[in-house]
Amino acid sequence: MAIIHFPQKFLWGAATAAYQIEGAWDEDGKGLSIWDTYTRVPGNIRNGDNADTACDSYHKYEEDIELLKQLGVQVYRFSISWPRIFPGGTGEINSKGLDYYHRLVDKLLENGIEPFCTLYHWDLPQVLQDEGGWKNRATIDAFVRYAETMFTAFQGKIKYWVTFNEPWCSSFKAHYIGDLAPGEQNLQSALDVAHHLMLAHGRAVQSFRSLSIPGQIGYAPNVSWREPFSPGQEDSEACRRRTGWMVEWFMDPIFKGTYPEFMNEAFARKGAHVKILPGDMEVIRQPIDFLGINYYTGSLGRYKAGEGLFDLQDIDEGYERTDFNWPVYPQGLYKVLVHITESYGTVPIYITENGACYNDICTEGQVHDPKRIEYLKKHLLQLSRVIESGVNLKGYIAWSLLDNFEWADGYSRRFGLIHVDYKSLIRTPKDSFYWYKKVIGNGWLEV
Ligand code: BGC
Repeated sequence: MAIIHFPQKFLWGAATAAYQIEGAWDEDGKGLSIWDTYTRVPGNIRNGDNADTACDSYHKYEEDIELLKQLGVQVYRFSISWPRIFPGGTGEINSKGLDYYHRLVDKLLENGIEPFCTLYHWDLPQVLQDEGGWKNRATIDAFVRYAETMFTAFQGKIKYWVTFNEPWCSSFKAHYIGDLAPGEQNLQSALDVAHHLMLAHGRAVQSFRSLSIPGQIGYAPNVSWREPFSPGQEDSEACRRRTGWMVEWFMDPIFKGTYPEFMNEAFARKGAHVKILPGDMEVIRQPIDFLGINYYTGSLGRYKAGEGLFDLQDIDEGYERTDFNWPVYPQGLYKVLVHITESYGTVPIYITENGACYNDICTEGQVHDPKRIEYLKKHLLQLSRVIESGVNLKGYIAWSLLDNFEWADGYSRRFGLIHVDYKSLIRTPKDSFYWYKKVIGNGWLEV
């Protein structure tokens, strides 16, 4: 047994996202989001699930904050539903939507928990999608209006702002792979969307600075790691492209003001090109206060001509897998954080998501989830190593506080520290909740 200490001011937290937990899909003047419509299309979501009710956090937020308090976290990462604030995407503000987030934020503050707020966690107002969504540059203006409204309404209350959650998912997964709303399958569309998301991020950061909003602003890309199977050039270049799809593509523009040439070349081989207008890169290249990192999985990778977008085959046999079938690959978290620091300097980093899907069963008020505890432990251990290696890591936010609506997989995938019975909506803290509570309380980990 060894004790691994974390820095004294390290922030511990838990995360959720509006569409995945709130429910109340048409209450108090909320408009439709692309997820409200996407879930209505037969075949899009496993078992035909939707998040009309989800965890009903819109009504049960006080109970959830009580649980956060019991857990002992310093921060709660949640997201705001844009169509609750602007049912029409832009234009008139829905004051009842704003009121809900004021109630939530006030309650968090009353309980000594810092709100860590994400502006965009995938629930674009449907009316904006009807006009082309993120392929349309006008959506950027609408986002900036929404962001400025939130900055102003919550200044002094919310100190941590995340512009975008996982822009890779909103672009490539939603527009090329096609299994997230709006569900398109076109590489050029995905590149257009990715660029517009980056621009919207840059414009929001500019507004945050020009409005002199107190606090910190960053974004939360999802990253992964591919370790070359052999030291040969083909394997390492294929892995570099796969990692670069999530890391360099979404970080070089912000930290360096350019897109990485090796990725431009890889996309060009597939007939797709990023379309940059004069001035775009200056807008994107805004200094940020922190980088949020979402990490779940990774693997070894080997060059294989014609495999996927980047001629890469994942080599992941023999790894333990979560119930999402994702290989457990904690060493990738270490590698990717060191790589990011070497590439972009010692930017302050928060792990804004990390966690595991295990479909735990609740019996007599107890949920034993030893595999989740093991997963978290292994990843925290890697984090203690990165701190020693000079990565400027400031905090860790576990995904997720609650079992919730897991997008295309509906309710079939449980990531929570707290079990949710979707019929009764009863919340039951799992063993991992009590384990994490102890880690937070002690500030150290026993391995
Ligand atoms: C997303 C979450 C999601 C989690 C697990 C991330 O991609 O930000 O919304 O539930 O991973 O799939």
